[in-house]
Amino acid sequence: MTQATTPPFQPQAFAAAEGLARQRAWVDVDPGAITANARSLRRCLEPTTNLMAVVKADGYGHGAVPIAKAAQAGGASCFGVATLAEGLELRQAGIQAPILVLGNLTTAEELRSCLAWELMPTISGMREALLCQNLASGSGRPFALQLKLDTGMARLGADWQDGPRLVAAIRELDAVHLAGVYSHLACADAPPHADDGLTAQQQDRFDRVLQALEQQKLAPGCRHLANSAGALRSPQLHYDMVRVGLALYGHCPAAHLQGVTPLQSAMRLLARVSLIRDVPAGVGVSYGHSFRTKRPSRLAVLGIGYADGVPRQLSNQMEVLFNGQRLPQVGAITMDQLVLDATDCSSLELGSVVTLLGPNGDDEITPGHWSERCQTIPWEILCGFKHRLPRLHADDESPGAH
Ligand SMILES: Cc1ncc(COP(=O)(O)O)c(C=O)c1O
Repeated sequence: MTQATTPPFQPQAFAAAEGLARQRAWVDVDPGAITANARSLRRCLEPTTNLMAVVKADGYGHGAVPIAKAAQAGGASCFGVATLAEGLELRQAGIQAPILVLGNLTTAEELRSCLAWELMPTISGMREALLCQNLASGSGRPFALQLKLDTGMARLGADWQDGPRLVAAIRELDAVHLAGVYSHLACADAPPHADDGLTAQQQDRFDRVLQALEQQKLAPGCRHLANSAGALRSPQLHYDMVRVGLALYGHCPAAHLQGVTPLQSAMRLLARVSLIRDVPAGVGVSYGHSFRTKRPSRLAVLGIGYADGVPRQLSNQMEVLFNGQRLPQVGAITMDQLVLDATDCSSLELGSVVTLLGPNGDDEITPGHWSERCQTIPWEILCGFKHRLPRLHADDESPGAH
């Protein structure tokens, strides 16, 4: 007997269908900004250099499929994902461009799916290359894959010194097509004088492998090394392709790289005021009373908290934007709520929409502002927004949207 399966509950689809998407708190994503950023990044590249849009982790929290399509419209020619499932999501959405899985796939099952869905795995040695050879032999379809070399990150990849030997061995495999050789930079976002020459050393190691391959007349396929920081840092790091994540989403990986090419933030985190309260001076606010009102105050509650991805470390350290004003957040950020001091903002009322992150008028709060205050990095802030928050894209027409 076949078992009836219940489709998984999809909170975002439910909220949109019920006209609730913009009721509590949500993420507005502007695909036009992604397209503009891709174009802007493309202008830094030679026409023959490819732009890979890195859309892993659900497009850094923006929504992988709409981001991939927007990036493609701006000149991205291929995509980078971390997992097999992320690659499948793009393929099932009808995206046909090359997709490189940047994470390590180790089992025959995962690699078989890659072959079936034309996803390129990254391999760090012969074990996976031979698995790919076995899977593809007799299938009549060459298995395209890329070899990763560790030039100084000590994460994925084979030792760079083994590069020429591995390329030679992979090219002996008749069912495998070596589509690229790449490496990853560990310190490209540090100012050149502050990275202890590590980026130059990684580049030198990569170049030495490529020179050896040339001498041995072994074609490496697509050669690539740079992430956003590398792409913005120097054209010398571009090779045949750059793999860009953070900059595509409109954020610069380091202050000294700001302005290399114009970028605009594609995400706004918004929430509606769910309650306004007038309280006297001396009132302790939220768990632990880490804030106490110093004057009669007007407090505004937002129905968003750390369970949505607003870091609790930002308690008493963040502001929100409303009509050209900055309003301080006060007291501990809780799981589902946070409180604003709206004493100096009489126009804020029940139902008003405030901006927690992103541009508002001439002002902007960036993931970098948040990450500095809670000692992390903008990447983690962007990827930290939970699925409880609807992601709405400018071209979504959901009831209740406005
Ligand atoms: C292998 C690889 N390439 C490129 C990127 C993109 O990095 P960024 O977001 O700094 O551009 C990442 C992200 O972590 C990565 O793991």
